[in-house]
Amino acid sequence: MQPAASGDKPVLVLIHAFPQDHTMWEAQAANLRTDHRVFAPDVFGFGGTPLPDEDWTIDSYADNLAAAMEELGIDTPFVLGGLSMGGYIALAFARKFPERLRGLILADTRADADTEEAKANREKTIAAMATQTPADLIEQMLPKLLCESTRASKPEIVERVRTTASRQSREGVIAALKALRDRSDSTASLKNMPFPTLVIVGAEDAITPPALAEAMVKELPNATLEVIANAGHLSNLEQPEAFATAIRNWMQKAK
Ligand code: MLT
Repeated sequence: MQPAASGDKPVLVLIHAFPQDHTMWEAQAANLRTDHRVFAPDVFGFGGTPLPDEDWTIDSYADNLAAAMEELGIDTPFVLGGLSMGGYIALAFARKFPERLRGLILADTRADADTEEAKANREKTIAAMATQTPADLIEQMLPKLLCESTRASKPEIVERVRTTASRQSREGVIAALKALRDRSDSTASLKNMPFPTLVIVGAEDAITPPALAEAMVKELPNATLEVIANAGHLSNLEQPEAFATAIRNWMQKAK
């Protein structure tokens, strides 16, 4: 990994999962900000961020992020990471702006697009959101988001995921479901991503299981795989220290 501009701490940008917000990165930001500049922006419609006038897409969010980083004066390559939906965005950014990155972190995510079946399920969820709330949706999602041991022994994490999702707006959730449904397939681009990439996955991730992480590692020219024990899909919330340590060790080794 190329060093950041001299004298500067390396910049690390982390994008959250659906239907969470930037607060899901609190533990990693606290751990890593001693020697990194950590940014955790909200995706459109989450964390109180307004929705754009037109439907947003994973690619349009990547464009917006590129512009926002420029406005912040971050004009040297940085490390971009994302978990699940955040990973789709990180991949889109890596496809569109490879020269802006010195490293990529893909956590509990996948490179391919939605299958026809997955798209149909998104449609059903979008239709259900006409009468349901984000609080209803997260109840249905929880068994898949968190592994069994987290659900059994870490009620505070379950509550946190529930509370964060429940305070999101219905409109934001629906707009994101459309963006997830319509995302591009990034698989063919993986081999053209030369920068160091850390692929993280919860050992018990039921949504994007370790086999998908392994498949991405095979395609990426410069990837490291980190499997987090006792974690499901929201591995950074389930095992915050192990997740932050994986990033720290990789950033140090990859320098
Ligand atoms: C997420 O955690 O962001 C979602 O599982 C992504 C998805 O539904 O594809």
